Amino acid sequence: MKFFLDSAKIDEIDYALDTFDIDGVTTNPRHILSTGKPFLTTIKEIANLIEGTEKTISVEVNPHFMDTGQMIAEAQKLAELSPNFVIKLQCVEPAFKAIRVLAEQDIRVNCTLVFSAVQALEAMRSGAFYISPFIGWKEANAEEIRGFVEDVVAIRDNYDFESEIIVAAVRNARQIADAAVANADIVTAGLEVYQTGFDHPYTRDGIQKFSDFWDQTLYE
Ligand code: E4P
Repeated sequence: MKFFLDSAKIDEIDYALDTFDIDGVTTNPRHILSTGKPFLTTIKEIANLIEGTEKTISVEVNPHFMDTGQMIAEAQKLAELSPNFVIKLQCVEPAFKAIRVLAEQDIRVNCTLVFSAVQALEAMRSGAFYISPFIGWKEANAEEIRGFVEDVVAIRDNYDFESEIIVAAVRNARQIADAAVANADIVTAGLEVYQTGFDHPYTRDGIQKFSDFWDQTLYE
């Protein structure tokens, strides 16, 4: 399973590339705002970081755009900027045609803000390169998420759709493990989610115990 970093902060992305060799980056308007820099400046800086690799950066079209033509025009403009860009379109009716038109032009779309298996199915039918079910938001709303991810994966596999499934808005290590058990292709999460997940108090406890034994033992 691939690990994407959900961030627009250059220092975080640089660190995660170096430390964990993350497989890609996802951004959204919240992440862009948090950098304090303009949208285009930020996504170009991220593109520079991974230039020459196969890694992808998902960049989101203006969420005010609710017209297929607007979505296509903006997606074409953004796709021109970097071969690593995958264009995020929100999962709404006008986006489905946009996804089909863009797929014919080899412009890859990440269909984002997906909250139901049928939304995911329609995005797959339309030719989305990535599908992003937002599990953290659902779980915060007390909705069950493991079965949801399993359904999306099963639908993709039942009909041999080529879309890759990014389990998104991941908040903790258990959700990463659930996504892996469900055979999702990718998870995207913030740096802290990965760092907390890769840590365990028993590991630290064990290091302390073994260090104490080590200190009482001669080396030679
Ligand atoms: C994924 O592509 C999204 O950017 C992300 O997971 C959204 O979640 P959040 O902004 O609530 O963390």
